[in-house]
Amino acid sequence: MSDTHTSHDNIILAGFMGAGKTTVGEIVAERLGREFIDTDTAISEQTGLSIAQIFAERGEAAFRQLEAEVAQGLAARSGLVIATGGGMLMNAANRHLLESSGVVICLQAAPDVIAERIAGESGRPLAADWRALYESRRPIYEAIEQKIDTGDKSPEEVAEEVIALWRSCL
Ligand code: S3P
Repeated sequence: MSDTHTSHDNIILAGFMGAGKTTVGEIVAERLGREFIDTDTAISEQTGLSIAQIFAERGEAAFRQLEAEVAQGLAARSGLVIATGGGMLMNAANRHLLESSGVVICLQAAPDVIAERIAGESGRPLAADWRALYESRRPIYEAIEQKIDTGDKSPEEVAEEVIALWRSCL
């Protein structure tokens, strides 16, 4: 496989925890007949550890390093639908790499929706203090050019919007 990713056609879903990146990404991939990659799943498969275990046993910095390696690998590929972990694009190098490989689309969800979706989650190590994180990250998500307000829409509706938005960017 070429590492020059000349087609720049990946679809990269970004956004905060609970925004629906994985659910929507799976639907988009299925509808387009593309391979779906969830970066957290890729990291778990690579390490044999859950995300919670990586945070607990190796620390967040180690997780961010693994995330950066995954971003590098994925940016060299094309034809993918990628659901990123909520913190992936906070790193400028990850952001630039993934932006260069396709269209980054931010899924936006209101804080009360996020609260509902991630309440009582044990698999998300940063879920406990999510409000402060949400506020601090908001400007970076806002700066992503392509955004979809997931509002009261079903995952299928959001997936259709993702596909339409992606096509309009080609
Ligand atoms: C994180 C979000 C998680 C996961 C990890 C860190 C974050 O992914 O990557 O727990 O920093 O926001 P989801 O956005 O899929 O929950």
